[in-house]
Amino acid sequence: MPLDKLIINQFRNIHSANLTFNHKINIIVGANGSGKTSLLEAIYFLGLGRSFRTHLNNRVINYESTEFTLYGEINQQQNILTPIGLKKSHNGDSIVKINGIYAKNLAMLTQYLPIQLITPESHTLLSGSPKNRRAYLDWGVFYHDQHFYHNWARIKRLLKQRNAALKQCKTYKELQVWDNELCHLSELLTVQREAYFNLLMPLVETTLKDFLPDFTISSQFFCGWDKNNKSLQNYLADNFMRDKQLGYTTAGPQKADLRFKINKLPVSDVLSRGQLKLFVYALRLAQGLFLNSMNNKQCVFLIDDFSSELN
Ligand SMILES: Nc1ncnc2c1ncn2[C@@H]1O[C@H](COP(=O)(O)OP(=O)(O)OP(=O)(O)O)[C@@H](O)[C@H]1O
Ligand SMILES: [Mg+2]
Repeated sequence: MPLDKLIINQFRNIHSANLTFNHKINIIVGANGSGKTSLLEAIYFLGLGRSFRTHLNNRVINYESTEFTLYGEINQQQNILTPIGLKKSHNGDSIVKINGIYAKNLAMLTQYLPIQLITPESHTLLSGSPKNRRAYLDWGVFYHDQHFYHNWARIKRLLKQRNAALKQCKTYKELQVWDNELCHLSELLTVQREAYFNLLMPLVETTLKDFLPDFTISSQFFCGWDKNNKSLQNYLADNFMRDKQLGYTTAGPQKADLRFKINKLPVSDVLSRGQLKLFVYALRLAQGLFLNSMNNKQCVFLIDDFSSELN
């Protein structure tokens, strides 16, 4: 894996740890409550600037401390080390340093350490809401297409403004100022997502043949509205009264989904929980391999509770 070295201070129950990792596989063993998940959480935090267990950053600071620090050395290219460091305090302040230079915010970390996380709850990628599958897809588009993040962030802001405006406005005309830009960017985002989806799926299919050889699985990308039927602009105009009543926008890239089916039925209705987990492994592995082959970046696979994953 591309993380050579990790130093942890005051993160969860880990007061202080200084670790050097093997390039391929590292296995962490220890009693319940010894801090195995916390270690994975620390690596995840260094890669994404957030936890996978809580939205409240303060929860990960050791109870007896007022701040935690993480330092890692990333080895993406042979023998070129990128040091990254992160400090987060109880009062919400954070300091990020990449290659010895202060970074603007935590989001700047995400380029350096791509992470695929597998936990006992991983099957919810398929059985849970479309949000999980969008996050899966967007992880890949983010690393694949450097223009993606800008579009995505802008759309997120526009939707927030549009949803706030929905509650106040009386006619659709008042919303059009948001919708012109929103529709344009949504079309671009859809092209980016679809292009990545089409490149990734052959690799997912090959990987699935190893993990679930007995099933023929079809996959489809849904962009968030039926674009063969009408344009997003028309959907937004036609749905105005409904959206206004609901208080949010019901069509658009924020509703995108990946649909996997077996004999025309959603995989979550057909496969067992264990088989769903295997499916998720195949999805995550394929994305990691894709990143490596197309973008020459290595990804870290964090697998929590490996023994229960093998059941
Ligand atoms: N902010 C914190 N400060 C100190 N300790 C904490 C903090 N948050 C959680 N803990 C404790 O850290 C310990 C380690 O938890 P962790 O989930 O990492 O254990 P684990 O080794 O993964 O255990 P299991 O095998 O049961 O999954 C727990 O005892 C937990 O109560
Ligand atoms: Mg654990």
